[in-house]
Amino acid sequence: MCGIFAYLSYFVEKDRRYVTDTLLKGLSRLEYRGYDSAGIAIDGDGETETVIIKEVGKVSALRAKVDGSELSWDKKYSVQTSISHTRWATHGQPSPINAHPHRSDDVNEFTIVHNGIITNYKELRTLLTNKGYSFESETDTEIVAKLLKYVFDSQRGQHISFPDLAKAVIKELEGAFAFLFKSVHFPGEVVAARRGSPLLIGIKAVDNQTADFVNVEEIVNAVAASSINEDKNPAYAKRAQSRSFARPDGSSQPLEYFLASDPSAIIEHTQRVLYLEDDDMAHITNKGDLHIYRLRRDDGLSSIRSIKTLEMELAAIMKGNFPHFMLKEIYEQPESVVNTIRGRVDFNKHTVVLGGLRNYLASIRRCRRIVFTACGTSFNSCLATRAIFEELTEIPVSVELSSEFLDRKSPIFRDDVCVFVSQSGETADTILALRYCLERGALCVGITNTVGSSISRETHCGVHINAGPEIGVASTKAYTSQYLALVMMALQLGEDRISMTERRREIINGLRELPNLVKEVLALDSSIKDLSQTLYQQKSMLVLSRGFQSATCLEGALKIKELSYIHCEGIMAGELKHGPLALIDEHIPIVIIMTMDAYYPKVQSALQQVRARKGDPIVICNTDDTNIDDAVVKTIRIPHTVDCLQGILSIIPLQLLSYHMATLNGVDVDFPRNLAKSVTVE
Ligand code: UD1
Ligand code: M6R
Repeated sequence: MCGIFAYLSYFVEKDRRYVTDTLLKGLSRLEYRGYDSAGIAIDGDGETETVIIKEVGKVSALRAKVDGSELSWDKKYSVQTSISHTRWATHGQPSPINAHPHRSDDVNEFTIVHNGIITNYKELRTLLTNKGYSFESETDTEIVAKLLKYVFDSQRGQHISFPDLAKAVIKELEGAFAFLFKSVHFPGEVVAARRGSPLLIGIKAVDNQTADFVNVEEIVNAVAASSINEDKNPAYAKRAQSRSFARPDGSSQPLEYFLASDPSAIIEHTQRVLYLEDDDMAHITNKGDLHIYRLRRDDGLSSIRSIKTLEMELAAIMKGNFPHFMLKEIYEQPESVVNTIRGRVDFNKHTVVLGGLRNYLASIRRCRRIVFTACGTSFNSCLATRAIFEELTEIPVSVELSSEFLDRKSPIFRDDVCVFVSQSGETADTILALRYCLERGALCVGITNTVGSSISRETHCGVHINAGPEIGVASTKAYTSQYLALVMMALQLGEDRISMTERRREIINGLRELPNLVKEVLALDSSIKDLSQTLYQQKSMLVLSRGFQSATCLEGALKIKELSYIHCEGIMAGELKHGPLALIDEHIPIVIIMTMDAYYPKVQSALQQVRARKGDPIVICNTDDTNIDDAVVKTIRIPHTVDCLQGILSIIPLQLLSYHMATLNGVDVDFPRNLAKSVTVE
């Protein structure tokens, strides 16, 4: 998914090499989001010049192009603004022309980067074409650069401020965006705006204590008239209150800003960040002052944006000694499950307290039903925990794919509780489903891994799963932590049911053992790697089970297909006779998950049906299962735990298997083709 990064410096000398290095490093931190091309726009040699460099492929390819350019590297700036972008193609093929930054004209008067989609770009493109503009790219974004120039030129010499201009342009746009605008007409200034796509501002000042919040100014000024902009009413114009990071004595201090789509690109420069809300527009002036305005005069949002201290460590987002983020994240699971549980479970009293839900328990318990909504792996975590949720709470639970739920426009009522599960907290389909449910008055609960994400902020309450940053596109540790968070939510909701006391004790005791059991499963890695040698050249595979393990089949199959590019289907064993049995022969590789729970006899019968048709499955079973003869059947033996937690252990061999099959197939596991970590478009 597209990534935005900008570097602005004031009253501190920086040379061009430093600026480009900072941009390229920022972009490389965003690589995990998935992208196909990248570009930068920096100040040129003259005050009114902007240089754009773009390239297809990885940030390293862009670096090579920057290094090979004619730029003079001894250029020094006392004030400079530079913007950059990684693009994930939506409108138009990956190509240098379609990459961002986009520009208004061939002398780069306005340069912009964009994350999101402008849905009315065709109409605007036609309008601008009729006014004599020609377009060089196939993107929706380029119309915004052209529109900036069009509105600016239509002022015919009258002064218009950069934020007024930006607001007039944004008013014409439909869709979702995070934008950064830069212009030779406003040297030293940058305008940033968001609606639907994340954007945050890192602030690095010598004296960082000068402010811990920024006022939101209601409106910029009366927006200057243009033939496109109809908003000529200055009645509600309010005098701007500047938020300056000047020293207390008023003198200017060296100041740097880092704007980005997510904190991983900022954290190495500063921990002080400000998250923009939807419809916020930030303006950084040529004096380094930061102003925040609203693009809409609505809502009861706070009138300040606080500057927070990020607690994320850069080390946490580096690979450590692992060859890939994915493997590192699989191996982090003994710690990540502890982090999800930490401070929330009392193992002596056998109670669970999720701080984020405490004030909402009564409302949730009163609800008519619970609707889980999510995509991909997050959806599978909902499926994995539905049974225990219903068992412990006696509230009916339905599980919805966000996109399907929206397509269906499913009825939602005030007495429904809707739970939105998302690692990133930025998945567009899930955010749209959330907004749909908010409009209908349902209580909305988030389960996310990303503090400050859209879902975390827009839900009424929720649970942060605290799994730490997940960078590999394939979700692994977030799955096991989402699973745990949902089980803990069910435990907390069901705490008033006396009849369930024993069951809750059993599960809470199981939680205590879990981290060690995860370690035991990870110790199987080398035998799973050997197994992957026999499978990685296959064209198709099946993963089969039922009951508590149904979701593990779907999640395991998703991992295998997204990473190994091998067709793989998760099959509910109860459905075998209703069709899939026709696929079984001695050739097709099959994994059967047969752990010791109430469904064991039924899965055993599926195993027999498969073997009767010459199938030779690999069986994931418990270490204490004596019914299976390892001399006859290939097994992966995992420790036994409580039925509803077993899926946390049984998914790990499939995560490892998919990882090894992918590496044997030469796949870039952290960035599988055509996929992005954070899917911020519908
Ligand atoms: C919180 C603190 C944690 C601290 C603990 C001490 C945060 C982010 N967490 O954790 O650092 O150690 O108290 O008691 O400051 N929320 C949503 N939607 C979501 C996720 C969360 O609205 O999708 C809300 C929750 O309702 C809550 C807040 O965000 O109001 C923090 O949630 P969470 O981090 O899960 O709370 P605690 O575990 O209590
Ligand atoms: O960030 P989210 O949890 O909302 O993402 C949802 C899916 O895009 C995600 O789980 C995806 O399926 C995984 N990359 C699969 O490994």
